[in-house]
Amino acid sequence: MLLWSGFEHIVRQAEPLAPHTWFQLGGPAEFFAEPRTLDELQGLVRRCAEEELPIRVLGGGSNVLVRDEGVPGLVVRFAEGVFADIQVAAGRVTAGGAAKLGHVISSAVREGLAGLEALVAIPGTVGGALHGNAGSRGGDIGQWTRRATVMTRSGEVIERQRDELVFAYRESSLDELAILSAEFELEAEDPEQLTKRMQQQWIVKKASQPLGHQSAGCIFKNPRGMSAGMLIDQAGLKGTRIGGAEVNDRHANFIVAEPGAASHDVLRLIELVRSRVADRIGIDLELEIQVW
Ligand code: EPU
Repeated sequence: MLLWSGFEHIVRQAEPLAPHTWFQLGGPAEFFAEPRTLDELQGLVRRCAEEELPIRVLGGGSNVLVRDEGVPGLVVRFAEGVFADIQVAAGRVTAGGAAKLGHVISSAVREGLAGLEALVAIPGTVGGALHGNAGSRGGDIGQWTRRATVMTRSGEVIERQRDELVFAYRESSLDELAILSAEFELEAEDPEQLTKRMQQQWIVKKASQPLGHQSAGCIFKNPRGMSAGMLIDQAGLKGTRIGGAEVNDRHANFIVAEPGAASHDVLRLIELVRSRVADRIGIDLELEIQVW
């Protein structure tokens, strides 16, 4: 196809996105590519800019719900192993944007570097985690981030230093198209102690969240000082079901997709939860997940 001349070997048409997401729901990407080098990525980004074609970067797919009708334009996902290097030296961890957050956390803990272990059990990639400033009660990724290299929507590669980065609750100024790499400055601690703490945090999360189910983590952001999960629970919505989508019994801010679920079941359940919480408790919940 003319649109992709020079990229025919990496661009596919009508690629199902469901297998690339934790929800395992939703339709295809109009075009899909897995670039293996910076040049390939840059070429694709520039082509999309020239052709005014929408482009999105998919990370680990753990915080996204793809609509049943699919996604127009190009969806890019780094090929396996590309931009996924992890290096530890002198109290710092440098990781590619496509590195799995879990791998980065265990590399840091193994080397006796503390901070990121509070993020244990959060799935996804470093890029996705930085984009939404992933975190838990023990802290977020932004507080440890010293530097990030990003690609803009016009294909330019830029380095952002700490003083240019702003992180807030599930928000980050890193809103460029793609995060290529990032550096974290951590604190030295005994690896054994650190491992124990990480394991304890993992046990607490496993007991309170339906990890390993088809879901996208918490659906809504916590309203200031409150737990969205607690509010949904208080509104009596645990176990509420639409089609194959269900408000989880263990943690009410998780919607789990059961076999046969469609993306629109989850979307309708999201609206139901939002309106019931507004009616019964008087609080408007805001989405945390990305809907494509
Ligand atoms: N609670 C309920 N019912 C529920 C869920 C929670 O009563 O269904 C109560 C708990 O018993 C607890 C309080 O609410 O007393 C807080 O619950 P929890 O510790 O699970 O924390 P959360 O505020 O609901 C946040 C993050 C989670 C993160 C946990 C643990 C958000 C939206 N959620 O949840 O992040 O894992 O803290 O640190 O910020 C995510 O972002 O995807 C996510 C799962």
